[in-house]
Amino acid sequence: MRLFLVVLALGMSQFAMADGQAEINYRQGIMLSIGGHMKDIVSILKGGVHQQDLRFHAHAMADLAKIVPGVFPAGSGEGKTDALPAIWKKPDQFKQAVQKFVDAAGRVDKFFKKYGKKKAAPQA
Ligand code: HEM
Repeated sequence: MRLFLVVLALGMSQFAMADGQAEINYRQGIMLSIGGHMKDIVSILKGGVHQQDLRFHAHAMADLAKIVPGVFPAGSGEGKTDALPAIWKKPDQFKQAVQKFVDAAGRVDKFFKKYGKKKAAPQA
């Protein structure tokens, strides 16, 4: 138990030291996750495969979208990043653009939730 607490404390101290690059890494992970769900939604719609998973991907993307407004903190524009300086120079404009994505992802989620209810459950 004591060893567990020491390991936990060491882990927590890493959080305290979180820097801009850690923020960037996290943001890139979120983006890759969004990209993954988006890719799967397109594969399902185009290829007709795994249709039973459509709602899952749409919902996951909508949840991830809600995280996006918080992944651009001050100081996370410098490091190994492709993020444009305009994100921090024009915060109001950026906030609006992000909100559009959050809203659109929410609408996609809602749409497939309804669509899934109307559609007969796919046979295994
Ligand atoms: C308002 C919505 C979005 C904003 C503001 C945004 C912004 C960004 C930014 C700034 C980066 C560079 C991250 C960095 O290097 O620090 C990035 C990377 C990326 N974004 Fe987004 N993005 C949005 C939505 C999306 C969507 C809808 C997708 C997929 C369909 C997506 C997929 C990606 C991918 C795959 C990367 C590359 C991640 C990497 O560097 O490994 N993003 N995005």
